[in-house]
Amino acid sequence: MIFDTLKPQIELIISEDQKSVNDHLQNICVLLEKRVPHYNWVGFYFRNGKKEELVLGPYVGAPTDHTVIPFGKGICGQVAVSNKNFVVPDVSAQDNYIACSIAVKAEIVIPIFVNGENIGQIDIDSNTPDPFTQEDERFLEFVCAKVATILP
Ligand code: SME
Repeated sequence: MIFDTLKPQIELIISEDQKSVNDHLQNICVLLEKRVPHYNWVGFYFRNGKKEELVLGPYVGAPTDHTVIPFGKGICGQVAVSNKNFVVPDVSAQDNYIACSIAVKAEIVIPIFVNGENIGQIDIDSNTPDPFTQEDERFLEFVCAKVATILP
């Protein structure tokens, strides 16, 4: 199972303490996009201080215009409010969705908690319809928990 192989590699990236937080996050994006065939855009969004908006952090994939997303808008903005994983098997069936590319068929967003507070998220787009399972959720929760340990 690919996720079992990737977990120690995530831990290795996190442990490289001579690197900046953004370097760690960028390396995680590169690893995931390269190694998981159904991950086609991988990025992090973080809460912008006390403002109710998300700002795009490191990512791999097509450039997006959506570098700032208000809370409540799109899949990402809804997760900022709900504090829950959001798995979208078919983005065309979502009313509250921000399209980045017509190639995208599905999306998964997992919140990142620091001291119990939702401070951001990992966002993954897939060009494959309905590709995400509970294995993806458990693995990405692992990634988010590791990321939480290096955030300022
Ligand atoms: N589709 C997201 C917007 C971000 S892009 O996927 C990079 C959303 O609906 O929130």
